[in-house]
Amino acid sequence: MIMKIAPPLDLSICIGKLELKNPVIAASGTFGYGQEFEKFIDLSQLGAIIPKGISLNPMQGNLPPRIFETNGGILNSIGLQNPGLQVFIKEKLPYLKKIKTNLIINFFGNTQKEYIELARRLGSLDGISGLEMNISCPNVKQGGIVFGSDSQMTYRLVSAVRKSSELPFIVKLSPNVTDISAIARSAEEGGADAVSLVNTFKAIAINIHSKKPELGNFIGGLSGPAIKPIALRMVWEVSQAVKIPVIGMGGIMKAEDAIEFILAGASAIQIGTANLIHPGSAIDVIDGITQYLIKNKMSRIQKLIGLFKA
Ligand SMILES: Cc1cc2nc3c(=O)[nH]c(=O)nc-3n(C[C@H](O)[C@H](O)[C@H](O)COP(=O)(O)O)c2cc1C
Repeated sequence: MIMKIAPPLDLSICIGKLELKNPVIAASGTFGYGQEFEKFIDLSQLGAIIPKGISLNPMQGNLPPRIFETNGGILNSIGLQNPGLQVFIKEKLPYLKKIKTNLIINFFGNTQKEYIELARRLGSLDGISGLEMNISCPNVKQGGIVFGSDSQMTYRLVSAVRKSSELPFIVKLSPNVTDISAIARSAEEGGADAVSLVNTFKAIAINIHSKKPELGNFIGGLSGPAIKPIALRMVWEVSQAVKIPVIGMGGIMKAEDAIEFILAGASAIQIGTANLIHPGSAIDVIDGITQYLIKNKMSRIQKLIGLFKA
């Protein structure tokens, strides 16, 4: 009897010169510094980990309440709280770089100078596989949104920061713009190796009894299943507009959602809010994608990217 042996599955994908063992990445701000999840999942199974965004100096974040649950999503106004670069390097990086997966550092500045300084210093450290530059946080006055809402400013910032580090360089885009494809093209022209999208959507909630905002900061960012169809449309549009890889996110809760983003053109995807509901979400997504490939008799995930035609 001749036994048929299934070909080994290849889930690997490339973001510029960065190779990921699979396309599933833990999204910044929803995965702490990795260690918080070690007792729930095998961290080395992830394609990459992106810890909470880092700034040059420590940031206290916004006034509480900072999280408010809405239908099909959450509003957050954390305000980019983080311990700053020095403490990150001393207290968080040693653990993160021991995990046997790619470590991508999400960072942001108040000025172009700060962005450049961060990219330069991060680029000189060991154990970092890539950088994700946040030009898109909706709930702080700085946080890059000023840069990320204008094509020319995006181009200028990306090209200046690009020169400061050799690391694979991803630019994270805001959905709070009129034409996200134009911003993505500017990031590409500026020298980004990839774009990631979307960050959260600017949103508010009002308490009808106190007649006050539900969030201490009033304005927050909406994430989770509620934003998925809009995020998917944006990822699809941007995939048509640029040649560099697109990393998709926004409301991915399960493997089927991730597959939709990959079909729409995403080379990789990020899991955000789902981590807060079920810490094993990213691993479940990897398993579900594997099953989908087997069911569809496909041996390489690369073949799935952008298969969708409108
Ligand atoms: C609590 C919270 C904190 C976040 N912090 C950051 C951050 O520091 N930097 C960043 O680029 N994005 C941050 N994000 C945005 C997520 O990385 C992601 O882009 C967004 O939530 C959409 O994906 P999702 O719907 O899967 O959560 C944060 C999101 C949440 C919910």
